[in-house]
Amino acid sequence: MGAGKGEDSVNALAMQKMDNIDFTLEYVFEKLGTLPSFPKVVQEALNRLDDPNTAITDLAEILKYDPGVTANILKVTNSAAFGLSRQVTNLETALSLLGQHQIREVLMTSASLPYLSVPIRGYGMDSNELWTHSIGTAIISEKVAEACGYEAKDILFTGALLHDIGKVVMNMFIGPRLDELINMSRQEKRPFFELEWELLGGDHAVIGSKVLENWDFPPEIVRMVRSHHDPDIYVQDRLTSMLALSNIAATQLGVGTGADAFRYNVSDALLKSLSLDRPAYECLLAEALKALDASKGLVSLYEK
Ligand SMILES: [Fe+2]
Ligand SMILES: [Fe+2]
Repeated sequence: MGAGKGEDSVNALAMQKMDNIDFTLEYVFEKLGTLPSFPKVVQEALNRLDDPNTAITDLAEILKYDPGVTANILKVTNSAAFGLSRQVTNLETALSLLGQHQIREVLMTSASLPYLSVPIRGYGMDSNELWTHSIGTAIISEKVAEACGYEAKDILFTGALLHDIGKVVMNMFIGPRLDELINMSRQEKRPFFELEWELLGGDHAVIGSKVLENWDFPPEIVRMVRSHHDPDIYVQDRLTSMLALSNIAATQLGVGTGADAFRYNVSDALLKSLSLDRPAYECLLAEALKALDASKGLVSLYEK
């Protein structure tokens, strides 16, 4: 990119910000310890789900202590999507009807919603907009996994759901300063993550990965979240490439992305790293739209 007038103004602002060193990446990292931890009950249940010897009764025993998760498991089981002829009121019965993949999705979605459904002022996102983007990216990620013949969909789903958790943290600790990002992103017509690097010395992806590391998420999830805006890195790792593509597809489909919408394009290198071509990507977008539409009822259950 040439050094245009816009770039000069960004650099001038960046220098000015470095003088006020109170909101750099180090400052945010220091504050991470004050974040509430990911619900222990859910983390424990997720670990148990990985163990093939875990019985449904063990899982129910753990989850019954989380009323929010229990309510969501029952709501999903009794939803129209399941088409049961009778009402299920027992947690153990509901768990046995859902199956492992869906239990994991309900756990992750229930536990993530409180973090993701806050207004993110600095990114121009209204209340629920980050949530819509996150759950949308997670739903799209399942179609991406299918298109790429990738079987471990659960890991990709979790990474996709939490990929922008760093934005929540940035908003909590340096929210008002992020207003500058909105203005600059609009004026310069550039994506936020580039401006984050210039103004803060790191982006929400790096911060989000640190949060997930602190919450004891597996290293492959931490890694994919850290690099979801870094093309040089993500094309080298299949899981990260799939997350990057899911995120770009979500922004291209206008799924809750605030001031950052429509700023990302899918590169040839990214498609090539996943052995996809443009027509395959177009098909994927059409499938993703259908999946988003079909999941509306289910997603709205969590919001009630
Ligand atoms: Fe992001
Ligand atoms: Fe995103």
